[in-house]
Amino acid sequence: MSTSKVNFIFSVLFVVFGAALGFLGNGDKFRRKVSVELNPGLKPPSVLPPDVGLVHVQGLGLNDTLHFLLCNRGAPALMLVHTNSTQSIVEVDWPSFINRSSAGSVKVEPQTSIQYSSALVFTRVWEYDDVNDTADPHQTSESAFYPPYELQNFIWFSLNATFDQTDHTVTLCGGEKTESFLNGSLCLQFSAFESEGREKAWPSLLHNANSSQLRVWLNGVTPRGNDSRFALEFQTVGESGFEGRVDIRSSIDDEYTPSIFKVSEWVSFPVNRSGVWGYNQWKPVAYRKADPAFEDATPCKHSELVSVNQIPQSSLVQAYFTDDPQIYGLNISFGIAKDPVFYSATKYVSWTVLVGMGEPPAESFSTLIIAIIAVGLGTPLVIIIVGGVFVWVRKRMSHSSGYEPIN
Ligand SMILES: *[C@@H]1O[C@H](CO)[C@@H](O)[C@H](O)[C@H]1NC(C)=O
Ligand SMILES: *[C@@H]1O[C@H](CO)[C@@H](O)[C@H](O)[C@H]1NC(C)=O
Ligand SMILES: *[C@@H]1O[C@H](CO)[C@@H](O)[C@H](O)[C@H]1NC(C)=O
Ligand SMILES: *[C@@H]1O[C@H](CO)[C@@H](O)[C@H](O)[C@H]1NC(C)=O
Ligand SMILES: *[C@@H]1O[C@H](CO)[C@@H](O)[C@H](O)[C@H]1NC(C)=O
Ligand SMILES: *[C@@H]1O[C@H](CO)[C@@H](O)[C@H](O)[C@H]1NC(C)=O
Ligand SMILES: *[C@@H]1O[C@H](CO)[C@@H](O)[C@H](O)[C@H]1NC(C)=O
Ligand SMILES: *[C@@H]1O[C@H](CO)[C@@H](O)[C@H](O)[C@H]1NC(C)=O
Ligand SMILES: *[C@@H]1O[C@H](CO)[C@@H](O)[C@H](O)[C@H]1NC(C)=O
Ligand SMILES: *[C@@H]1O[C@H](CO)[C@@H](O)[C@H](O)[C@H]1NC(C)=O
Repeated sequence: MSTSKVNFIFSVLFVVFGAALGFLGNGDKFRRKVSVELNPGLKPPSVLPPDVGLVHVQGLGLNDTLHFLLCNRGAPALMLVHTNSTQSIVEVDWPSFINRSSAGSVKVEPQTSIQYSSALVFTRVWEYDDVNDTADPHQTSESAFYPPYELQNFIWFSLNATFDQTDHTVTLCGGEKTESFLNGSLCLQFSAFESEGREKAWPSLLHNANSSQLRVWLNGVTPRGNDSRFALEFQTVGESGFEGRVDIRSSIDDEYTPSIFKVSEWVSFPVNRSGVWGYNQWKPVAYRKADPAFEDATPCKHSELVSVNQIPQSSLVQAYFTDDPQIYGLNISFGIAKDPVFYSATKYVSWTVLVGMGEPPAESFSTLIIAIIAVGLGTPLVIIIVGGVFVWVRKRMSHSSGYEPIN
């Protein structure tokens, strides 16, 4: 048997295994029709303070609607509301929202169609002098902490200018009026998706039509110490009757996020009932450059979930959640113990989180990995089969050739 035949068998095996398992991996064809609008229904004489905005992203399904609301009045917040109607709308009582962000001034109507609501609020950026190089805020003495940056007090660059209708992305950058932020900013980039996919940029999280993504980065901010490290504090606000927990899932495949084999999921589930209704999902990695190479990745860690008894200073959240919301907080700290590279080396750190409803997307083996496994397992099999056939053919040929062994 010639090598080209062996190659042919290889190729067939490769294609068959790859295609079969590739199908399994790419089963999600669910799509939403996504549209973006700024300040829905805002008309003069109502005017928002300068550079403040409320972005509404609507993802229309066949039977349902997923509303995302992003607002930078107070601490920046992303809210998600899922309804079982294609007719649901966002209603803002602008005078009352602008005046006091009074409870009930932001609503989704009809209210009976609402299935699930939750919000994510970025509250603080913590900076500490990591002289012991533990990269762990909870092992660091309180005196090593600088006063946190309160995101509710930030001044943002105009939301309007950074609004992309075709890409469904909104970028929000801001900072404090202090020396540290003279050349720097904190940015949030929100993306909504029509269907399943993943972004090219690491960590290349798998997303679907029921999720959105927030990339957060700190760029050019002057650290207050030589050994400064940062942590990001965020809170989730949800309806009563829900509980939260953080799960860590492992994978043997790091194809899309090199060297990262874990994914963290802060899930929200109803008390006394099964199933996950909403999630924040991230990989425990941050990047020290905007265009990172492999060595620019740094691990990050999350703290325990803590219950918070005060509603965060976000106008959107205060205007939407009226009765007794559940609030939890968590810190994500960037860096790892004994890591000689502090923030000052690149003055940049970025981290990405997926926010969505339903079950979080789960990585399945990619076609490439499947093909590698198929070839790994298939090769010995092919060798055995080819060897067997070869021996058999040799035997047949020696029999049918008409020569008899000479005794
Ligand atoms: C839409 O809702 C109907 C009735 O609730 C259900 O039978 C149908 O499967 C749903 N369609 C989709 C695409 O979810
Ligand atoms: C704004 O709030 C104040 C105090 O609550 C109230 O007196 C005033 O009428 C409000 N203005 C508008 C336009 O709602
Ligand atoms: C939507 O959900 C509500 C309860 O959450 C239910 O009463 C209503 O019948 C549902 N509507 C549709 C169209 O499924
Ligand atoms: C460094 O470690 C020492 C000994 O464990 C501890 O007393 C000190 O508070 C630590 N310093 C900081 C800034 O955490
Ligand atoms: C956004 O800015 C452009 C000009 O920069 C302006 O024409 C447009 O009206 C603004 N849109 C909103 C919703 O403010
Ligand atoms: C900001 O940038 C300017 C010019 O690049 C530089 O001269 C200045 O020192 C920087 N300021 C800080 C606080 O980094
Ligand atoms: C997204 O949500 C819709 C409506 O609840 C559901 O039918 C669909 O299966 C979900 N898709 C994924 C990928 O979770
Ligand atoms: C930071 O390092 C520089 C040079 O290495 C040193 O002069 C300075 O005193 C250090 N600053 C602090 C706050 O430790
Ligand atoms: C959950 O179940 C317990 C006991 O069965 C009950 O006391 C509690 O009120 C339930 N909680 C909710 C939110 O339904
Ligand atoms: C985040 O870390 C800081 C500093 O250790 C701490 O004061 C704060 O309570 C933490 N926040 C949460 C939500 O755990």
